[in-house]
Amino acid sequence: MDYNFSFYMPVNIFGGNSPLQNNKNVFSELGKKCLIVTGVSSAKKSGALDDLIKIFNELNIEYSVFDKITENPLTATCYEGGKNAREINADFIVGIGGGSPLDASKAVCVFATNPHIVNDDIYTAEVKNPPLPLALIGTTAGTGSEVSGVSVLTRENGRKQSVSGKNYYAKYVFADAKYTYSVPYYTTVSTALDAMAHAVESMFSPRADFLTQKFALIATEMIYPILEKLSCSEDLPTEEYRNTLYFASLYAGFALNKGGTGFPHGMGYALTEDYNVPHGLACAVFLPAYLKEAENKKPALYNELLKSMNTTSEKLEKIIQNFCDFDFTIPQDKINEYEIRWENLKNFKNSPTEFNNKDAARLMTDLFVR
Ligand SMILES: [Fe+2]
Repeated sequence: MDYNFSFYMPVNIFGGNSPLQNNKNVFSELGKKCLIVTGVSSAKKSGALDDLIKIFNELNIEYSVFDKITENPLTATCYEGGKNAREINADFIVGIGGGSPLDASKAVCVFATNPHIVNDDIYTAEVKNPPLPLALIGTTAGTGSEVSGVSVLTRENGRKQSVSGKNYYAKYVFADAKYTYSVPYYTTVSTALDAMAHAVESMFSPRADFLTQKFALIATEMIYPILEKLSCSEDLPTEEYRNTLYFASLYAGFALNKGGTGFPHGMGYALTEDYNVPHGLACAVFLPAYLKEAENKKPALYNELLKSMNTTSEKLEKIIQNFCDFDFTIPQDKINEYEIRWENLKNFKNSPTEFNNKDAARLMTDLFVR
């Protein structure tokens, strides 16, 4: 066993009961003016926005709400948010939501202090000035964005692409699972599968190490029994299960922060862009193929994974396939286009065996051409 590891995750996480209220003084350190970045509904529905505004009123912090973040946020929308932050002289940003608003708020911080960066320039331009400080409040149990230095955005051409590095970490995270309690069944399933995909894909990545594999195994142990329950009934999870799912998504995020995602995420983006499949389900449909590669290439680790979930390969595959029972097909021409676009896709390098664009096109054809 190779016990070597290194880990960098410069985020201060506050958890427990009411972490926002109990640690509100950090906001005074961040400044007097805040731009809150969020989507249209989840920040309000979850109760997080109201709780934050109450605290800002107590602390005399001025705020403005930028609630234009949609699913799969565009670089242009994040640029607009950054411009907005400059116009109101915001000292800091708070991002509230699921993966899309959290990822977008990271980009807003960069755009706010770097007016020379416009829209898609964010992928290539030098970040000359430090981004605005960022605090995050998650409202779904899946993304792990709270603890990663990654922001997945959508380019002007409609294609999803990630940007990452030291400029994309939050300074503070308020991890309060109660903000996930109002998430509906379908989103709960999709986000839980996203967290499971983060754990599994990062675990078998060549970048993973002893420590991050352990984080991933903790996550799969926590998520799998709840996924099993969700596969048998559309009843919403209890608060206890919601808490478990949320903290598991953070463990998966720790693993993801080091290992990165593999081909299920790289291929899943296409299903989200062109067929509106929610992110977690879009990645999970490719997970059984990834697991097969993992079983062949790294059998000992694969067995540890099954042990963590107390399940068998067959059961695991069946549960994932039941959730990912899509009724659309994809024309072969479109898959041929994907094959060209996927040449040198960086997620493919994070796979247990050598995996390339031809393998990806074959897998897509197996699953979606009938
Ligand atoms: Fe994901």
